[in-house]
Amino acid sequence: MFFASAAPSTLFMGFLLVLPTIFFSCTLVSALPFSELVYPNFTGSYLQFIDTSGVFLLSRNRTYKASICNPDAQQINFYLCVIHVASNIMIWSANRDHPFSEAGKVYLTSKGITIANETGNEVWSALPTHSSVNALLLSDMGNLVLVNQANVSLWESFHYPTDTIVIGQQLPVGTSLSGAVSASDLSTSDYQLGLTSSDARLQWHGQTYWKLSMDTRAYTVSGFMVEFMVVNGTGLYLLGHNGSVVVQVVLASADFRIAKLDASGQFTVNSFSNGKWNQEFVGPSDSCRLPFVCDRIGQCSANSASKTPDCSCPSNFHPSSPSSNTCVPFDGSFSLFSACNSSNNGSQVNSSAASYLTIGYGHDYFSNDFSERLEYGVNLSVCQEVCSGDCSCFGVFYENSSGSCYKIENKLGSIISSTSSENDLLGYIKVVAAPSTNFDGNNNSGDQSQEFPLVALILLPSAACCVLIAIGLVWLRRRRISKFGEVKLGHPSSPSSEELDAFRIPGLPRRFDYKELEVATDNFKTLIGSGGFGAVYKGTLPDKTVVAVKKITNLGIQGKRDFCTEIAVIGNIHHVNLVKLKGFCAQGSVRLLVYEYMNRGSLDRILFGTGPVLEWQERLNIALGTARGLAYLHRGCEHKIIHCDIKPENILLHDHFPAKISDFGLSKLLNPEQSSLFTTMRGTRGYLAPEWLTSSAITEKTDVYSFGMVLLELVSGRKNCLLRTQSHSLEDDSTASHASSSSGSGLIYFPLFALEMHEQGKYLELADPRLENRVTSQEVEGMTRVALCCVHEEPSLRPNMATVVGMLEGRIPFCQPRVESLNFLRFYGRRFTEASMIGEQNRSNNAILYSEANVLLTSTAGGSHRSFSYMSSQQVSGPR
Ligand SMILES: *[C@@H]1O[C@H](CO)[C@@H](O)[C@H](O)[C@H]1NC(C)=O
Ligand SMILES: *[C@@H]1O[C@H](CO)[C@@H](O)[C@H](O)[C@H]1NC(C)=O
Ligand SMILES: *[C@@H]1O[C@H](CO)[C@@H](O)[C@H](O)[C@H]1NC(C)=O
Ligand SMILES: *[C@@H]1O[C@H](CO)[C@@H](O)[C@H](O)[C@H]1NC(C)=O
Ligand SMILES: *[C@@H]1O[C@H](CO)[C@@H](O)[C@H](O)[C@H]1NC(C)=O
Repeated sequence: MFFASAAPSTLFMGFLLVLPTIFFSCTLVSALPFSELVYPNFTGSYLQFIDTSGVFLLSRNRTYKASICNPDAQQINFYLCVIHVASNIMIWSANRDHPFSEAGKVYLTSKGITIANETGNEVWSALPTHSSVNALLLSDMGNLVLVNQANVSLWESFHYPTDTIVIGQQLPVGTSLSGAVSASDLSTSDYQLGLTSSDARLQWHGQTYWKLSMDTRAYTVSGFMVEFMVVNGTGLYLLGHNGSVVVQVVLASADFRIAKLDASGQFTVNSFSNGKWNQEFVGPSDSCRLPFVCDRIGQCSANSASKTPDCSCPSNFHPSSPSSNTCVPFDGSFSLFSACNSSNNGSQVNSSAASYLTIGYGHDYFSNDFSERLEYGVNLSVCQEVCSGDCSCFGVFYENSSGSCYKIENKLGSIISSTSSENDLLGYIKVVAAPSTNFDGNNNSGDQSQEFPLVALILLPSAACCVLIAIGLVWLRRRRISKFGEVKLGHPSSPSSEELDAFRIPGLPRRFDYKELEVATDNFKTLIGSGGFGAVYKGTLPDKTVVAVKKITNLGIQGKRDFCTEIAVIGNIHHVNLVKLKGFCAQGSVRLLVYEYMNRGSLDRILFGTGPVLEWQERLNIALGTARGLAYLHRGCEHKIIHCDIKPENILLHDHFPAKISDFGLSKLLNPEQSSLFTTMRGTRGYLAPEWLTSSAITEKTDVYSFGMVLLELVSGRKNCLLRTQSHSLEDDSTASHASSSSGSGLIYFPLFALEMHEQGKYLELADPRLENRVTSQEVEGMTRVALCCVHEEPSLRPNMATVVGMLEGRIPFCQPRVESLNFLRFYGRRFTEASMIGEQNRSNNAILYSEANVLLTSTAGGSHRSFSYMSSQQVSGPR
């Protein structure tokens, strides 16, 4: 590959540039304009600089050279390029799509640079308009710059990147890198790395095949909009406003590093040191995930023995010629669909005449994980009809179990062969009737049918052999898994869950073996928590990392692909205030999630427990951390996540890390029946907003409400619903509020009390008495006002989480609670105290919470418009 051949570099670099000229170099260096500058009326050609292999500029630090170069010494295509001296790697070329011959010339005039071929025709130019050029400069960074008299830059090669960026260069949002066709042909290939305001992604003919944020090595640090991409001595970064880091890939420190879109279509980061290239990052790492690695419809399977994958044709197709990778229908009466607007005299415009050839099970397509599914819950004929009516559709992938339909768009690429033939995804290629005979003589279906017997003779025996082997493997796998599932785990193994292994979703976090986690948790010995999704155990991995292993129970069987997709999404949500998913295990019917371990446990134990009291500043930090984590979850466009279950139990603390939110995204794993109580919707994915009790939609403002309730608990240090008056200074302070917010049972509904104290301006009454005098009225006022705004009945009156963060940080003034949208607390406080009297026979918290939920249900059934927004955070989590 490109880098391999670039490895050996000259010993005398910086002094001698080119080995063949070694004997002449002393004179040449002084004779030729080897400075960082050339001035107008400079003319150069390859022939003129042949003794220096075309070099005519050398940056002052001697790191980069500009030359008229001839990549791979093919002697045909010449380019104006910038090259890193030590590694000899080209980092930029001017005329990549318009090479010139060795007789072509580069001119620098006061107008700018022009390049003309041997006949004098201009093939490329850089002509800044607003000022005249004084010099062409090669900067120490490798930037070729046209400057005016005042040394002001008029034009820079850094603004016109080709396939590479170097340290010191920025790739702005909206621009892209394009791969070169090969190491010797620099022309623009079909692969592009584009930068969007949230991600860097690779595309081929408009179809995405990789995203940086989904790579396991990319860490999302903040939710700012991306402004540009850089590579520097410590890694690869997507940066936002004022250079704030949005996504980072941290790498070993290096002096010279480039990010490059390779001719293969892979995005790589490579460093160069001690004369050697070191590939540090590559995406996608699986070369079968490259759109055209096996040509059109070629079926790609990884070859463990060699780095290059194997290519073959799927069933119903065969190579168009013995030497070709391109596959065509086996049945000569069909030919591949080509786009409606193609030049072939419109014969294929009528795409309703399309039929479909299946390529069989066990395949996937590179864009399936990145494109919207076309339809959901439809039958195959509907899926194919949609494709038939679409000129840009070249075929479909259909998942029978979920009725999902995915489209092959714009251009037909290679097919990925799944390691297991058990997935439920069936690919169909759109074909049309072949022209009946080749009267016009310009099509090759004739010789294809002649080749048929020969190809068949070669292919059939080997195909039969493969089929036999495949059947054997499948049978072995089945036996192994079902034994494991039934005997070891004590769970019946359902065939559909085995198929999980069939999916290779990019960005999936680490997959653990059940056995591994059994050992890590010492056979699930140390229970550290339990929630609606199942029990959580402490574990230690072989590398001594302590983890929390969540054993998910009662998970409905849903599409395997959906399960893995969700895991990939959750696993790729990285934020300092969100508990990181380290991996998962899905074997038989077992589902385990492996999380980072938070050594102080959940907020409820620390806030409501009997241990040392949480100081105000810590409470503020926890509030801020939680708010930032939530703001991050709500921010996303593509994967907006509504937590739906914000409560102190889901806020985890650590001695050395900020507070983190756990359990986000999990409700997506529930099946529809289970999620009727707690539904997370996927904001932009076309899922209808689920409703809760009334017609009000669940939005991210639902989380804001729950967060407000948590804030109130942080202020008081007690559960909102269970404050006992005798443990509070309230008793002496008998006022009207006492009567209205608490009942004879000694229970108080704290949110109502907070509203009343807010109205009276007596904020210190609200503070946790254990804080004594260590908190000021202003501090309590701030947090209380934010909390009350968050619990406004009308969701649209609640601030969004980004605003809450701003208020807690002190950047935005505290909001003014709107009493008219808080009056419901008075009603609710009354119902609460009534309910708690009912609940008094049973002192358990749960009983009271359940009866609270009953209040709600009853009032809803009674026709009053009690909305979901009445729910406290405890209620949302109550029945779990
Ligand atoms: C470059 O050539 C043009 C025309 O031949 C001439 O007018 C101009 O003065 C020259 N510039 C320099 C800097 O020599
Ligand atoms: C422009 O830059 C060159 C080389 O860097 C320097 O020699 C020259 O003095 C500068 N001219 C001005 C006007 O700053
Ligand atoms: C690389 O850039 C990141 C983000 O701007 C920065 O934090 C880091 O310090 C930089 N590293 C070097 C070696 O300049
Ligand atoms: C597929 O679904 C469509 C619409 O729901 C229906 O009209 C059609 O009969 C179905 N076809 C088959 C083969 O089930
Ligand atoms: C597709 O799914 C339907 C119902 O989900 C089932 O009846 C049918 O047998 C399945 N077809 C195939 C080919 O698996």
